[in-house]
Amino acid sequence: MSWNLKRSADRLSRFWGTLAFRLTAWYVLAGVALVIFTTASLYFLLVAELQKSTDLFLADKINVVRTMLRERPDDTDALREEIELESAARRYQQFYIRLLDERNIPLLTTPGMAEQLDLPRLTIQTQSSPERAKSVKGKNGRPFFVMSAPAVVGGSAYSDTIEIAIDVSQQEALLARYRQRFWLILLGTLAVFPLVGYQIARRGIRPVKEVARIARHISSTNLHERIQPEGYPSELASLAATFNNMLDGLEESFDRISRFSADIAHDLRTPVNIIRGEAEVALARARTVEEYREVLGSCLEEGVRLSNLIGDLLFLARAESPLAHLHRESIDIGELLSGIREYYEAPAAERGVFLTTEVPLTPVIAQLDRTLLQRAVGNLVSNALAHTPPGKSVVLGASAEAASIRIEVSDAGEGIPPEALPRVFDRFFRVDESRSQASGGTGLGLAIVQGIMLLHGGKVEIASQLGQGTQVTLSIPVSPAA
Ligand SMILES: Nc1ncnc2c1ncn2[C@@H]1O[C@H](COP(=O)(O)OP(=O)(O)OP(=O)(O)O)[C@@H](O)[C@H]1O
Ligand SMILES: [Mg+2]
Repeated sequence: MSWNLKRSADRLSRFWGTLAFRLTAWYVLAGVALVIFTTASLYFLLVAELQKSTDLFLADKINVVRTMLRERPDDTDALREEIELESAARRYQQFYIRLLDERNIPLLTTPGMAEQLDLPRLTIQTQSSPERAKSVKGKNGRPFFVMSAPAVVGGSAYSDTIEIAIDVSQQEALLARYRQRFWLILLGTLAVFPLVGYQIARRGIRPVKEVARIARHISSTNLHERIQPEGYPSELASLAATFNNMLDGLEESFDRISRFSADIAHDLRTPVNIIRGEAEVALARARTVEEYREVLGSCLEEGVRLSNLIGDLLFLARAESPLAHLHRESIDIGELLSGIREYYEAPAAERGVFLTTEVPLTPVIAQLDRTLLQRAVGNLVSNALAHTPPGKSVVLGASAEAASIRIEVSDAGEGIPPEALPRVFDRFFRVDESRSQASGGTGLGLAIVQGIMLLHGGKVEIASQLGQGTQVTLSIPVSPAA
C-alpha cells in the first residue's frame, strides 16, 4: 500500500518536473488572470454606468420639479400630476418623489412611498450629496437609490426640498446574474485551460521528444541515423542540426577507429604469420645448424619489424595524450639537417638520388626536442628517397620567420595523386598498397610526423604534383608557449 503510494508520489513529482507541466501551468495562470481581469473590469464598468444613468435620471426628475416650482409655483395640478400620477403609473424602475416645505412637512408625495421607504429617516439619509444618488434599503428589503435637492418656490425666499427615490432591484438582479456568470466562466476556464494548455505544450515539445528518442536508441551500430528537422520550429531545427553534426563527427571518428583496428590487425598478422610459417617449416624435420641460424635470423628480422610497429603505435598513442611532454633544447636547425643528410647519404647514393641541404647563413635556432625532430625529418627524407627516381634530387631546406621556423623536404619524385593527398596523414595509409607493403612501409611515417608537430604546437603541410614532386613543410612556433 505504502509502496503504491510512494510510486504515485514519484510519478507525480516527475510530472511536475516536466516542461509540458510547467508550460501548462503558465498557460492556466495567464488565462485565469486574463479572464479575471477582463470580466472584473467589465463588471465594474457596468456598475459605474448603471449608477451614472440612475444619477442622471434622478437629477433630471429633480430638475423638472424644480423648474415647475420656480416657473409656475401656483400650478398645483401640474405638480401633482408630475409627482403623484406619472411616477405611480410606472411598472418598471418605480420611483417616488416627495416635496417637503421649509419645516420638512410633506406637501406632495407619490402614493405608496410610505409603504416602501422609512420616510422620516430618508430625509436624514439623503442630505449628504446632491449630485450623486445614495443607496438605501427599503422597508421590505428592496434596494433604492435616493437623491434630494432644495427647490426655490417662485420668486420668494422660500425653499422646499425635493426627495426622490428609485427602485433599483432590477439593476441589482442584473448585476447578481453577471456575478453568477462570472463564477461559471471562471470555473469553465479552470476546467478547459489545463486541457487545452497541455495539448499545446505537448504539441510544442514533440520535436524535443523526437530528438531525445533518436538520441536514446543511437549506438555504434546505427550511427548513420539522422534527425529529419523538416517542420521543426527554428530553435529545434538548429538543435537537430547540431545533433546531426555531432553524429557526423562521431561516425567519422568511429569509422576511422574501425579502419585503424582492422589495419593494425592486418599489419601485425603478416610478420607473425611469417615467423610462424618459418618455425613450422624448420620444425618439420631435422635441420642443419646453418638452416636453423637462417630461420632464427629471419624470425629476428620479423620480430624487429613487429617491435618497431608496436613502438610506432605506442608513440602515436602517447603523442595524442595531453600528458605527453617534450625534452626541449636549443637546436641549430642547419646543423640538425646536415646531420640527417649525412645519415641518409649512403642510402641516397645507393638509389642514385642527390641529397642536399639549403639553409640560411645565419643560424636558425629554436627550442625543440632533438630526437623527435630528427625522427620527423628522417621520416620525410626516407619517404622522399623511396619515391624519387635515380638522377633526381631531394632538398632539405630551413628558414626562419617572425614567430616560427619552417623545415621543408622537397623531392622531384613521382608525386602523390590528388585524391590520395588528404589521406596521407592517416595511420596505415599507403598510396599503393601492394608496392609499399613489399618495400616494408607500414603507412605510419607521416602520422608520426603529424604527432610530433602536434606535440610541438606546430603543423605539417603537404603539396604534391603527380610526376613532378612532393614538398612537405613543417612549421613550428619558436616560443614553446605559442
Ligand atoms: N615524398 C613522397 N612522394 C610520393 N609519395 C609519398 C611521399 N611521401 C609519402 N608518400 C605516400 O604516402 C604514403 C604514406 O606515407 P607514410 O610515410 O605515412 O607511410 P609509408 O612511407 O608507406 O610507411 P612508413 O613511413 O611507416 O614506413 C606512402 O605510402 C606513399 O605512398
Ligand atoms: Mg614513410
